[in-house]
Amino acid sequence: MLKWHKIETEIPDEEFVKQINVDGKKLCLIKHQQKLFVVQNTCPHAGGILSGGWCKNGNLICPIHRWEYNLENGRGAEGQGDYIDIYPLETRSDGIYVGFKESWIKKLFG
Ligand code: FES
Repeated sequence: MLKWHKIETEIPDEEFVKQINVDGKKLCLIKHQQKLFVVQNTCPHAGGILSGGWCKNGNLICPIHRWEYNLENGRGAEGQGDYIDIYPLETRSDGIYVGFKESWIKKLFG
């Protein structure tokens, strides 16, 4: 079961990486290669803020030590042995919604 929250922010036409607030929680919203993604905002390596990063070839790059995370499956590049959570998105008539699983809600909202 997913819990859906509306994303309340402007979505520019061009590519971007930015921080958004969803129900009081900071997340990272990305537009890359014509697709939108919402991922966790904190880098699993050492807590870098991923929304300060950038994208390259389908990967999100953390601005601190430049570790890379695949935007389709969240996996860290070879050798990193880590991953980020990627949250499902749904386009509805009144906007875009992001869905959270129970386990993510615990992780995000405590
Ligand atoms: S904190 Fe993100 S790569 Fe080190």
